[in-house]
Amino acid sequence: MIALATPYLWYTTRATGIVALILFTLVVSLGTLVANRIGGTIVGRFEINELHRSLSIVAMIFLVLHILTTVLDNYVSTGLISAFIPMTSAYKRVAITFGAVAFDLIVAVWISSLLKLRVANSTWRFIHWFSWIGFATALVHAYMSALTRVPVWGSSSWAPAGVSWCSPLSGDSLDDPRGRRVGPRSPRSLA
Ligand code: HEM
Repeated sequence: MIALATPYLWYTTRATGIVALILFTLVVSLGTLVANRIGGTIVGRFEINELHRSLSIVAMIFLVLHILTTVLDNYVSTGLISAFIPMTSAYKRVAITFGAVAFDLIVAVWISSLLKLRVANSTWRFIHWFSWIGFATALVHAYMSALTRVPVWGSSSWAPAGVSWCSPLSGDSLDDPRGRRVGPRSPRSLA
C-alpha cells in the first residue's frame, strides 16, 4: 500500500469527512420527505426523490475520498481493513469503529438500492432503514473524532446534528494535528 505523509492529506481527510456528513444529513432529510410523501407544487415529490438519489452519489464520492485519504496518510495507523471491520484501527479505535459501522451500513443500503429492481420491495425497505443507524453511527464517529480536538460547542463536524449548525469552520477545527499532538497520545506512538 502506498503511504504518503503530507499535511494536505490530513486536511483532505477532515474536509471530506465534514462534507460527507453534511451531504448525508441532506440525503437522510430528503429521504424522510420522500418516505412521508411530502412534496409541494413548487418542488414536487419526483424532484425531491431525484435530489435524494443524486446527492447520495455525491455523498458516497466524498465518503470514499475521506476513507482513501485516511488510508493513504501514514501519519495515522488506520489501514483499509479498519474502514470495514470494527476495532481494527490502532488510531482512535472506538471512533474509527463507529465510522466503519456507518460505512458498512451505508454500503449495504447503497448495494440494495442498486439492486432495487431485483430484490423484493419489503427487503429493500428493511435494508433502507439501516441508513438511519448508519447516519447515527456516523454522527457518533464525527463527534468522537472531533471531541478530543476542539471544545464540544466549537466542533463544526457534527453541526449537522443541530447542535452547532451555525458555528463557522474554525481554524482550530482544521488544524493539522502534527503540531498539536505530542507525547503518549500521539498517533505515532499508537502505531
Ligand atoms: C459514513 C461514514 C463517515 C462519515 C460521515 C465520516 C465523517 C467524519 C467527520 C465529520 C470527521 C471529523 C472531521 C473534523 O471535524 O475534523 C471525521 C474524522 C475522521 N474520520 Fe471519518 N467519517 C466516516 C467514516 C470513516 C471511516 C470508515 C474511517 C476509517 C477509514 C474514517 C476515518 C476518519 C479519520 C482518521 C478522522 C480524523 C480523526 C481525527 O481528527 O483525529 N471515517 N470523519
